[in-house]
Amino acid sequence: MSIPMVDLRPMLAETEPAWRGHLARLFEQMQFVLGEHGEALERELAAAWGSRFAVAVASGTAAIELGLRAARLSPGAEVIVPALTSPFTAQAVLAAGYRPRFADVDRAHLLLDPASAEARGGRRTEAVVPVHLYGQPCDLPALGELARRRGWIMVQDACQAHAARCGGQPLTRFSPAVAYSFYPTKNLPCLGDGGVLLTDSARLAQALGRLRDGGRRRDQVARIPALNARLDEMQACYLRAFLPKLDEWNARRASLARLYDEALAGSREVTPVERREGSVCHLYVVRARRRAKLRAHLARHGILTGIHYPVPLHLQPAFRNGWQRGDFPVAERACREIVSLPLWPHMPESAVEEVAGRIAGL
Ligand SMILES: Cc1ncc(COP(=O)(O)O)c(C=O)c1O
Repeated sequence: MSIPMVDLRPMLAETEPAWRGHLARLFEQMQFVLGEHGEALERELAAAWGSRFAVAVASGTAAIELGLRAARLSPGAEVIVPALTSPFTAQAVLAAGYRPRFADVDRAHLLLDPASAEARGGRRTEAVVPVHLYGQPCDLPALGELARRRGWIMVQDACQAHAARCGGQPLTRFSPAVAYSFYPTKNLPCLGDGGVLLTDSARLAQALGRLRDGGRRRDQVARIPALNARLDEMQACYLRAFLPKLDEWNARRASLARLYDEALAGSREVTPVERREGSVCHLYVVRARRRAKLRAHLARHGILTGIHYPVPLHLQPAFRNGWQRGDFPVAERACREIVSLPLWPHMPESAVEEVAGRIAGL
């Protein structure tokens, strides 16, 4: 049996009439950027995930960057980012004109540790970007309280956490802006790059709408320095077709994750990373005793795995800036041990048994 990390084909097959219908209308209208599908998608996403407004953009990275730009921090301000996340989180901080300042993650869930964020915050720190890694919501009450006390803006990176809530509350209740990615491997994917910002603030939604479109108000006058970070209509067609299925697909991910938990209980080779309440199970991640051997063994049996992520951000050349090995020991150790196992909504249950069986046979 060959088992990929992710397979989009069943999602496309299941929703084909819907996306074909949207595409047919798009080709009638020939409005490929900032048209009716993007606007409808924004309304549908805001309604589905419990925010007042949504602003569709070109990628998750652009969403984080625009959320930070709109916060208008001081030039060169520092932004707290977890040492374990996608490099794009910190790239977005740099692109916005700020400097990432790293903090460690907690041992059990590998999410930004509020105590480390507090300890690492400095005189120039003005914002924090919690990352809902692997689909699990961070401790937003604690981080929100910290941000309030220190006067920091919070922009959430929910690029891996579509439809996630925290304590039953929409994520926009905890900070002005929440950023999502629609990269093709995500729980709600498009067929290229895409992203969105959710917010409850009409003023912020309007500012973000200008920031993504050259600083214009649908005219040819640039009022502020801004970028071109618009979502194209073709991606909106696929996203609108997938969105009504998302809760069902997330439920299937959760059920497969529970099966993995059972099948791997007591394994000598791997220990699953604990999931927090409300996780939307974007990735199923384990810590492996002998990672390279395990991945090679699984690959020999046609089972593909990933590492999210192999190098902590403070040791990546783009962000190094004086950080040393040993600065964030929990993230560093996790980067040596973690492996992401195959998981997508239509993955057959037999694939979980196959993966667990092969792990046991190492
Ligand atoms: C946690 C996290 N942050 C940021 C990003 C960047 O999103 P995008 O690839 O859409 O720019 C991603 C996805 O790649 C991600 O997983």
